[in-house]
Parts: sequence; structure tokens; C-alpha cells
Amino acid sequence: MPEEVLRELGGDLLDLEGTGIGILEHSHRQPPFDRVLEGALDCCRRLGGIPDSHEILFVPGGATLQFTLIPLNLLPDGGVADYPDTDIWTAKAIVEARDAVPNAQIVVPFEGKRCAYDHVPSDAECPASKGAVYLHYCSNNTVHGTQYQRLPRCADGAVLVNDASSEIFSRPMDWSKHGLVYASGQKNLGVAGMSVVIIRRDLLQRAPRKLPSMLSYAAHAKAGSRINTPPNFAIHALWRMCQWMVREGGVGEMERRSHARATLVWETIDASGGFYTPLGQASCRSVINASFRLPNAQLDQRFWKDAAKDGIDGLAGHREAGGIRASMYNSCPLPAVEALVAFMHEFKRTNG
Ligand SMILES: Cc1ncc(COP(=O)(O)O)c(C=O)c1O
Repeated sequence: MPEEVLRELGGDLLDLEGTGIGILEHSHRQPPFDRVLEGALDCCRRLGGIPDSHEILFVPGGATLQFTLIPLNLLPDGGVADYPDTDIWTAKAIVEARDAVPNAQIVVPFEGKRCAYDHVPSDAECPASKGAVYLHYCSNNTVHGTQYQRLPRCADGAVLVNDASSEIFSRPMDWSKHGLVYASGQKNLGVAGMSVVIIRRDLLQRAPRKLPSMLSYAAHAKAGSRINTPPNFAIHALWRMCQWMVREGGVGEMERRSHARATLVWETIDASGGFYTPLGQASCRSVINASFRLPNAQLDQRFWKDAAKDGIDGLAGHREAGGIRASMYNSCPLPAVEALVAFMHEFKRTNG
């Protein structure tokens, strides 16, 4: 998170906007928190250019909970949904969807595991199922470092459902094509344990089954994301993060910065003569997560351990994929990436 946002949040813990009471201590039904919630909704809508056709919900629980809630709220018994599998997160979403609605058909039109998740599918590789209610995809694949450069094609009458956890507000979204977009908080929105769910309002009316209220998007919408005590600090942090992104120039500027950062890393990888090997194909490389390997696992380990000694921490790849992963979320400053690239050159010189 940007240091200035962390400092703001530190102040808000002690005293929220001159009330003399911190954000954690305010009642969630009193005017100071009303202002936080309204501010967060308004700022999120302005930042993302989210149209009135879509409702914004703050739902307790991470993106993993949405893997269950999405089919429960959108997929009728016996219904069909497409789930192209492009990374470990989509694989988990498929398992959860099958458990959530056991008698629905969860079709996997593209099995990325077969190509070590090295690309996202073209339309030809990902046939849409006739009659599907929705196509669930993950626009940025956090682990293997691939990213959709265009929207996947879904069946006539179906909507797109996007897990945008690792890229929300880093590039514009075509809301007209999306029935639902969701993201967990911990990357571009601040705090883990809450998700933003942006859902077309008509889908709320068409829920296929009666659900317990905490599992129902319609119930969250009806209660204005306050069925119970909401994750007040996570909502507040999301507001501060959205305000920061607006101040910095909005989604267009976030997109420009993502490309500037990623170009530095990918160019270094491409110029390394094969010392650094990307996990993803060049046509769909992510500008958020640069995932790559060195010639062997020992060097991978030495790389991230030595980098940590130089103050560049958190580079070990995901535990299921190994290798190295440089995650460059919206608040990652360019000098941090310049330091990484300098380290990559030096590491290759001494170990290549
Ligand atoms: C694309 C994607 N989806 C889902 C998740 C899971 O999020 P959570 O841990 O909040 O459940 C992550 C976490 O990194 C992610 O990157």
C-alpha cells in the first residue's frame, strides 16, 4: 500500500475525521461510519466508471468465498456455466462451483493445466457452451503471470463473471459485458478478508434459489452491505485506497504505470539470453505479476534469498508454481522495480 495511505489509516485509527474516536471504535450504524460507507461506494464507482446498472457490494470473506457464492446466486439447478481454467485460482473456483451446485454442469472448455498454464485461451481454444448462464474467467492470473488482452467470448445470453482480484482498477473494464466482477481486498483495495462484488442489478432479482442471508447477494444489496457488523476497517481502507488512486490520476494513470513497470522487468527477462524464463507466453504476459524461472530450482532460491538481503523481499513464486514472482500492484513505485531490475542484471552477471 502507498505509504501516504498507511499514514492516513494510522491517523484514522486514533481519530476518524475529527470525531475523537477511531474507525475501529465507531458504531457501524452512526453517521461517521455512514460517511465512510457512502464515501467508499461513491469513490469506487467514480474511479471504476461503474454504471448505475451495477450494484457495488462489500462482502465479508475473500475471493475464495465468492467461488461458492457466485454459483449459488447465479446458477440454477441443472444449469450450465463455463469455467476456462487458466491458473490455480480458476482451478479452485471450479472445485467450489461443483460443490456449491452439484447438479449443475460446470464445463471446463479450456484446461490450462495441460500447457502448464502458459497462456490464456483464444476463442477457438475455448468454445462457449450453448445455454450457459455465465462464463467465469480470471482476467489476471496472479500465479503464472498471464493476463487476458481481450475479453473471452461467452455463449449468447450468457454474462461474463470476472475474478479481477489481482488487477481491479489497473485498467478500464467494459461493464456492459460483465454481469459480475469481484476482487478480494488485499491487492489494490487494501485489506484481506473482504471482497468487492460489482453485480448487474437485474441478476440480483433473478437469484435461482432462496439462500441464507449472508450467502445471498440480493440480501447484501438490500441491506446496503450492512446485514450485520460489516468489516468496517476493510471498507474504510478501500475508500482511502480509491481516493489515492483518484488523486494519482485514476485508472488510466494506473494502467500507464503498470505498463511502465512491467516493461522494465519483461525487457530484462527477454534480454537475459534464456537465464530468466517466463512462465507465460509473450502474447499474454501480465503487466501485474511477472512470473519466471532461473535455470534450476537452487538458483531460484538463491535469487529470492539474495534479493531479500538487498531489501527486495517477497519474490518467491507461489508455493504451487515455484520460481520467482514479482508482483507489481497499483501502489508499487517505479524505483522499486528499477532496483529489482538492477538486481536481476547483477545476479545474472555473477551466477549466469
Ligand atoms: C486471482 C485470485 N483469485 C482469488 C484469490 C484468493 O483470494 P482470497 O485469499 O482473498 O480468498 C487470489 C489471491 O491471491 C487471487 O489472486
